[in-house]
Amino acid sequence: MTDAPRNYSDLHEHIAALEQRGLLRRIDRPIDKDAEMHPLVRWQFVGGIDQAERKAFLFTNIVDGLGRKYDIPVVVGAIAANPEIYSVGMRAPLADIQAKWDHAIAHPVEPRLVNEAVCHEVVIEGDALKGEGHGLDRLPIPISTPGFDSAPTLTATNVITRDPDTGVQNMGTYRAALKSPDRLVVRMATRVGGAGGYQHYLKYQKRGEPMPCAIVLGCPPYVAFMGPQKLPLGVDEITVAGGLAGGPINIVRARTVDLTIPAESELVIEGLIDTEYLEPEAPFGESHGHVALEEFNMPMRVTAITHRRNPIIPSYISQVAPSESSVIKRVAYEPLFTAHLRNTLGIRGVKKVSLHEPLTGLLRVTVITLEKGTSRTEIWRALSGAASFKGDCGKICIAVNEDIDVDNADGLLWAMAYRMNPIEDVQMLPHRGQGHGPKREHDQEEDSTLLMDATMKGDMPPLALPKQEYMERAKAIWQELDLGPLRPQAPWFGYSLGDWLPQWDEAAKRAAQGRYLDNGKISEKQRRKGLKPETKFRPEKDGGNGKG
Ligand SMILES: Cc1cc2nc3c(=O)[nH]c(=O)nc-3n(C[C@H](O)[C@H](O)[C@H](O)COP(=O)(O)O)c2cc1C
Repeated sequence: MTDAPRNYSDLHEHIAALEQRGLLRRIDRPIDKDAEMHPLVRWQFVGGIDQAERKAFLFTNIVDGLGRKYDIPVVVGAIAANPEIYSVGMRAPLADIQAKWDHAIAHPVEPRLVNEAVCHEVVIEGDALKGEGHGLDRLPIPISTPGFDSAPTLTATNVITRDPDTGVQNMGTYRAALKSPDRLVVRMATRVGGAGGYQHYLKYQKRGEPMPCAIVLGCPPYVAFMGPQKLPLGVDEITVAGGLAGGPINIVRARTVDLTIPAESELVIEGLIDTEYLEPEAPFGESHGHVALEEFNMPMRVTAITHRRNPIIPSYISQVAPSESSVIKRVAYEPLFTAHLRNTLGIRGVKKVSLHEPLTGLLRVTVITLEKGTSRTEIWRALSGAASFKGDCGKICIAVNEDIDVDNADGLLWAMAYRMNPIEDVQMLPHRGQGHGPKREHDQEEDSTLLMDATMKGDMPPLALPKQEYMERAKAIWQELDLGPLRPQAPWFGYSLGDWLPQWDEAAKRAAQGRYLDNGKISEKQRRKGLKPETKFRPEKDGGNGKG
């Protein structure tokens, strides 16, 4: 056991914190990990359950289709079933997460090397890794998309490799399909903006050597968050995890490969990745929402499995967004985009960047919220900045103003419908890679970029819903009459969009007080001859009462 000091939670402590906050469900009845586990958790993403109601699921009684029982529990959704769960792992309220990421990236902390670690309490090596029921085959790794996937697949991974030239380690969340008790196949994306580990692979391949690799399951949450985070190549993610923790992360040397691993991990699979042969892997339901079809990926021969005495194995629910995978990425990537546009490019009008989640899966549709009145050139700098920030993100970028609820696609269409003149406000740019999707880059087929300025180009009349005060007054009556629960959807009250006069405000107030006859007297005084119907009238400053 390590008793090295630390100021961060491990996965066990994180799960206890979730349970304390009512964010965990324990499932003690037998659950088939291959046919039932992921579909059960999936219901909270497709069952009309609010995001805030999602929980982590801890499965303590796991069986499989062959009737085998597993003694290691599995937790699904524990890192990011919803932003609240993520924020428990971040040990910060949601509103502070942007600042926490910004600070950690700017102030990385070197890890602390320790000699003993809980992740080495149980060590399985050599012949103990061979044969059915041993090695990987002992682990309750679920099938993510029953009916399509061909193998139990590790999803909640932090895959560690080392750059053989610089010695700097990389950590990425990559899936790995189980193939035999001591063999799995790892998939590292080869596209621009893809896996850092693939760049290491190319270097080992050139040297004619296998690549040492450690697949860590169940890192402390600060470390787990680093797996999917998109940091520049050459940044060792463990130092940024230290930045999140505000102190060093404890690491220990792996037993059979020359790598260091987080000391408080639940379970570690060490091995050597073949840089000569590839092996077919998948089908596997992917986070772009389609099934990744079979393709050649990297076989790894397992040299050791080590774990805590009482490990818990995490599994991410991914595939069609929203999912745990899209939440974990969204909460991490949005701050990067916002910081890039606001701080690096210095575009003051940028309020936030949102990555559209349901079905599109974050990487395709980027929404930039800009302050009303931001100049056209700055809006276009923001659009092109967001489109080019990451090689595989921002295919469709939409600029909107602050009143648009970016999570409501209806609101986006509303802005596009009324605030955008396509001939002036839409641009298409050539030369985009295929990105993360069902098409592969090596077919040489390019994609392109769509930029849309759906911000207001000037003042507009108010949104035609009753003002907030009237909606709230009516809400009280709704509740008094017990007419059922309300789930207000923005926009649920009308507000000014700039083109609105105090005289109209006064007239509306009178009308709502039943005094419309007063308004009729005022308008009567403004009668004119010789105008075409629908000619605009704007009352004068004196209130439009005919005296001005
Ligand atoms: C659940 C989940 C599964 C992922 N699977 C893969 C994968 O199989 N291969 C891959 O290259 N990236 C995958 N990603 C995305 C990478 O984790 C992400 O691109 C990350 O930036 C990679 O880290 P790196 O830049 O250090 O390589 C996955 C992300 C999540 C959240």
